[in-house]
Amino acid sequence: MDKEQLNSSAQIKSDIITQVVQEPSRGMLIQLGAAIRNGKLVAIPTETVYGLGANGLDPEAMDRIYAAKGRPSDNPLILHVPDAESIKPLVLEVTKTAQKLMDAFWPGPLTITLPKSDLVPDRATGGLPRVALRCPDHAICHELLVAVGVPVAAPSANISGRPSPTTAEDVYHDMNGRIEYILDDGPCTIGVESTVVEVHDDAVTILRPGGITKEMLETVVAHVDYDPNLVTGKTVPKAPGMKYKHYAPDSPMITFVGDDRNVAEAIKQSLIESDTSLLDTQTKHSIRTVQSKIGLLLSQEVFELLGSDITDDKQYYCIVYGSSLDYVALAHSFYKSLLLFNEAGVTRILAQGVLSDGIGVAIMNRMEKASNKHVIYV
Ligand code: TXA
Ligand code: MG
Repeated sequence: MDKEQLNSSAQIKSDIITQVVQEPSRGMLIQLGAAIRNGKLVAIPTETVYGLGANGLDPEAMDRIYAAKGRPSDNPLILHVPDAESIKPLVLEVTKTAQKLMDAFWPGPLTITLPKSDLVPDRATGGLPRVALRCPDHAICHELLVAVGVPVAAPSANISGRPSPTTAEDVYHDMNGRIEYILDDGPCTIGVESTVVEVHDDAVTILRPGGITKEMLETVVAHVDYDPNLVTGKTVPKAPGMKYKHYAPDSPMITFVGDDRNVAEAIKQSLIESDTSLLDTQTKHSIRTVQSKIGLLLSQEVFELLGSDITDDKQYYCIVYGSSLDYVALAHSFYKSLLLFNEAGVTRILAQGVLSDGIGVAIMNRMEKASNKHVIYV
């Protein structure tokens, strides 16, 4: 965030008391629904990550989202609806392919962009002719969306550039004093954002990989491709958000991808090298202090392979984020792990990546950004 954005968020901070709501009654959900309709900001749980919800038909309410997040104004928002029927007034046409996708994957972690109707303000789409639509698979979120009665614009509820929140505590950390309510329904089940697709006649382009994989989309649509700009990084990707630095932990991160044994060896090597580089050249004594704590993000398998190499808990802050065979579990814990590294104040992160397969594509998309493209294949 630049200074100006920080100032504007500091101003917001002094005015607003953020209320955390747990186990909401029906009456409370109706109250929160009215709050959103009337221009308030409410963080909402979904199956992917927590969203920062505002009235998606009210440009001023959406302006408040951009201010609270410090989000670049050309990055459009996703409109959240309780069911497929609700998109009809928001789009020019519900095409056959869009209908097939909604039948197969809604409610669920798939966001569909379609040409927008005049009802959708330009503020929601950053001036783009298409609007992004999503129907979350989450019981309380569904009830809230019904109570709101208008589409809810909701980006991830983090300060722009930081890891997305998968618990209400994570939202509170970034948004306390900036938004009116946080609806807490525990940890999100999936842990990475929805897949964003652009729908054409009988084809689909993936603009952002996510919870619904290419293989899953191919079961209902004949032609599915990734936005080439997403893969090559040469020109601006079609989802404006994908061009920004994102999901970054506070400290630099290197990601290692490969067979467990190779990853363990590469991380071990990297630890030895960093030890040597921290030797005081005069005395040859290690000058590593608590301030140079290394964060390790590992699978259970690599953790076991490293064994006694990482037992010194003063030097390492180690998170085992799941089995290297279980990408769903790794996706679930990824953002939370980055936030734990921030909290622990690590100065560098060495992380184990995954192969770009299934939901692994979504994980690696986030890991590449978190490591500022510092990914080493071993
Ligand atoms: O899982 C999710 O999608 C979460 C939860 C809260 O629903 N939301 C989320 O929103 O991740 P956000 O704003 O953090 O990311 C939305 C992405 C951005 O990359 C944005 O550029 C892209 O979707 N997007 C939104 N509208 C678009 C449009 N009309 N055309 C192309 N890309 C669009
Ligand atoms: Mg986001």
